[in-house]
Parts: sequence; structure tokens; C-alpha cells
Amino acid sequence: MKCAVIYDSQTGNTRRAAEWIAEGMREAGAECGVFRIDAVDEAFVREAKGVVIGSPSYAALMTADMRAWLLSSGGKLGMGGKLGGAFATEQYTHGGGELVIQSILTNELVWGMLCYSGGAACGRPVIHIGPIGVNGNVEPHNDLENYRDYFTVYGRRFAAKAAELFGER
Ligand SMILES: Cc1cc2nc3c(=O)[nH]c(=O)nc-3n(C[C@H](O)[C@H](O)[C@H](O)COP(=O)(O)O)c2cc1C
Repeated sequence: MKCAVIYDSQTGNTRRAAEWIAEGMREAGAECGVFRIDAVDEAFVREAKGVVIGSPSYAALMTADMRAWLLSSGGKLGMGGKLGGAFATEQYTHGGGELVIQSILTNELVWGMLCYSGGAACGRPVIHIGPIGVNGNVEPHNDLENYRDYFTVYGRRFAAKAAELFGER
């Protein structure tokens, strides 16, 4: 079963988070493709049963490039009926990551995706609406690496749910 992770990233943090999600998906048995929004393998995404989309927080919203991609190319990939998820990176602990995730999930719902976060039902680590990583740019106690497990665990849970729903591994 194919799963895709699609992201925007200027300085590499969200790309790293996307790779960690993919690592978890592969551990759960999925064939996973990871694509920046300017290099999406459209055939792969069309075949994917699950798609997770991520963006850095820019003024507590997704990037303008991600919003533009969602409104143009993303909407032409047959997303309706697929499992959907979202993630974010930020440089402040309270930097708006959950708003970024929420707005991506809203877009996925508009497309008719089945949105899944794992949620509290999966136990610890509890991930409410999607994983967020805080980098070490301005908060010395933070480092994106500290959040790695959240992304890999989320990827595992997401791919396992996709396999359960779509009857494939
Ligand atoms: C224009 C701009 C606006 C940003 N706004 C926020 C913000 O509101 N909150 C926050 O925590 N980080 C903000 N950041 C920091 C990025 O979200 C953060 O460094 C992120 O991890 C960058 O992802 P990337 O390395 O994948 O590009 C902003 C960065 C830029 C360039």
C-alpha cells in the first residue's frame, strides 16, 4: 500500500519531519513517497491510500506556497476518499503549529479525505491533531531532533490505520 508525505520547506526542518513520518510509515509496511510541493510525483499520489501534508508555521499559518499548492495542484490529485493527515514545524513553542495543522486538515476535509491523527485513543505519546516539531532557532532548550519520535510514531499509526481501512499492507 502506498502512502505519500507532501511538504513545503525552505530551510529543511519540515523536510526532516516529513522523512521521519515516512520512516514510521515504512516500519508499518507502507511503500512511502516523500515530495516537496514543487516536485510531487502525481502518479504516486493518485495511487496512495493515505496522504500526509505538512508546512512550517508562517505567522501561525501554513506558507503561502503551501496554500497556493493546496488550491491548485493538490486539488487535482483525486484526494477524495484517501486517509489524510497533517503536521507542522515552528520555531516557538507557541508558534501556531496547531493552527497550521487545523487549516491543512480543513482543506483535506473539503476534498473529501478521511482525516486521522491517531488522537488520544492511541495512548502515549498522545498526539492530538497532528505532530509538531519545534526547532532550535530561537529557543535554546529546543531542537527538532527532540520531536523525532512523535513524527515516526505518527507515521506508524497513520499507515497502520490506512492498511486497516483499505485492507492492504
Ligand atoms: C516568514 C516566516 C514566518 C515565520 N513565522 C513563524 C511563526 O509564526 N511561528 C513560529 O513558531 N515560527 C515561525 N517561523 C519559523 C519557521 O516556522 C520554522 O523555522 C520552521 O521550522 C521552518 O521550516 P523549514 O525549515 O522547513 O522551512 C517563520 C519563518 C519565516 C521565514
